[in-house]
Amino acid sequence: MQPCPRQDRPWWSDAVCYQVYIRSFADSNADGVGDLAGIISRLGYLELLGVDALWITPCYRSPMADHGYDVADPRDIDPLFGDLAVFDALVAAAHQHGLRLIIDLVPNHTSDQHEWFQAALTAAPGSPERARYVFRHGQGDKGDLPPNNWPSQFGGPAWTRITEPDGQPGQWYLHLFAPQQPDLNWDNPEVRADLEKTLRFWLDRGVDGFRIDVAHGIAKPPGLPSYAPNEFGPFDDRSRRRDIRFDCDRVHDVHRMIRSVVNKYNDRVLVGEIWVTDDERFSRYLRPDELHLGFNFRLTKAGFDADEIRAAIEHSMDAVKAVGAMPTWTLSNHDVERPVSRFGGGELGTRRARALALVELALPGVIFIYNGEELGLPSVELPDDALRDPMWERSGHTHRGRDAHRVPVPWEGGAPNYGFTEAASAWLPMPADWAGLTVEAQLEDADSTLSLFRHALEIRGTHPGFTGERLEWYGAPKGCFAYRRPGTTLVCALNASSDPVPLPPGEVLITSGPLTTDGLLPADTAVWLA
Ligand code: GLC
Repeated sequence: MQPCPRQDRPWWSDAVCYQVYIRSFADSNADGVGDLAGIISRLGYLELLGVDALWITPCYRSPMADHGYDVADPRDIDPLFGDLAVFDALVAAAHQHGLRLIIDLVPNHTSDQHEWFQAALTAAPGSPERARYVFRHGQGDKGDLPPNNWPSQFGGPAWTRITEPDGQPGQWYLHLFAPQQPDLNWDNPEVRADLEKTLRFWLDRGVDGFRIDVAHGIAKPPGLPSYAPNEFGPFDDRSRRRDIRFDCDRVHDVHRMIRSVVNKYNDRVLVGEIWVTDDERFSRYLRPDELHLGFNFRLTKAGFDADEIRAAIEHSMDAVKAVGAMPTWTLSNHDVERPVSRFGGGELGTRRARALALVELALPGVIFIYNGEELGLPSVELPDDALRDPMWERSGHTHRGRDAHRVPVPWEGGAPNYGFTEAASAWLPMPADWAGLTVEAQLEDADSTLSLFRHALEIRGTHPGFTGERLEWYGAPKGCFAYRRPGTTLVCALNASSDPVPLPPGEVLITSGPLTTDGLLPADTAVWLA
């Protein structure tokens, strides 16, 4: 595909998008949990930061077994987060601030409190009510063994047995996540029709796009075959190998349907959560009649190593080239460890996270920044009794889950809850030593991580070097790399080795940390030059 001038391309093709994990962003009503009005009150900050769009995690009616990823009514707002009027106000206010709004869509499953699932429980096996979900008889004489051996992503089996209306143990239903998140049956036309309705409902309210949850998991393999023995252990990194539960060919029909609805509206974007590592299979989701963008998670998996980071970048670029899509870049989200902690924590982790942020922000394509990443927040070691992620209980307390990466954003002041909430306690406890990490403290400090992000985003938005869709690699010392945006003078270099190295030629635009006194690029540091 030929690079085309910026103005001819859709707004999202090189957008910087900020992920708001609603519970943890800003609390407007002193209940300890973030909400939609809280987001409205902080839009000025996002404008100041210099992002183009925000993606908010699910705010639909939900019993919150998985903090909103268990949806009881996809066309209403949960009272914990606000109501439809506040949602409309958020759309309007975001647009006034020049920000697009992307919302999360959860088509793979509903909540067990969804009226459909409640109706399925009281209906008979084989009924149309059960056919909206994946109900099966169990194995064994008494049907007391699950229909296959699939595990749930949160630990334990992916099947739960129900009690039939007559009081007898009965069928089993599939849930790839928590038992409170029954999987929908995507072979059922009623399920499709309902999602179309949901899409239109929010598109008509003015949202600019959808992030599609578990986009690679919606269709299930025919016959629901068991894993081969020992195929996976509990909590194996299944994203690195083909997992029969995911990435089934029939999933693409669903994405074509979603795209056909969205195509009737101008300028809306679809971005899929796609945990598929094979580049060719990944690219299938981004064919011209499917999703516009796909989250590529390779950078969340790369260690702080020049070869690993470079390979992650090359794979992400290759995975979209054949279908003419733009790459996306993610260093963190609400499901994965924060970069500062992943790279060793403390000063070292912060230095490395800042360097990788500069490497990311110079890349062509779409950037996703997770709330708090711009503040250099670490993941937090929480006490057992503070843990809220269903993974903790489901794993029999062997897997601590994702709460560590979801601790609320510190806004101001010297002590918890740092302006996040006026409640006595936030839904997850905030550390006592975050006074230096608040937005307020970092705005004042030119060397802070927030100032680094603001400055880098300003350069990305205004410098003529940030054009085109490709990059070229330079020769660089061992443990380092440098890339150029072709047709421009812009160079980004990373030193992931343990010794200072000379800078590539050019005028320094920004560095992730100070150069040495003799002008070398120190270890764990990145630079942009032009
Ligand atoms: C996605 C979400 C995750 C959620 C899961 C089930 O992976 O990012 O937070 O738990 O889907 O909906």
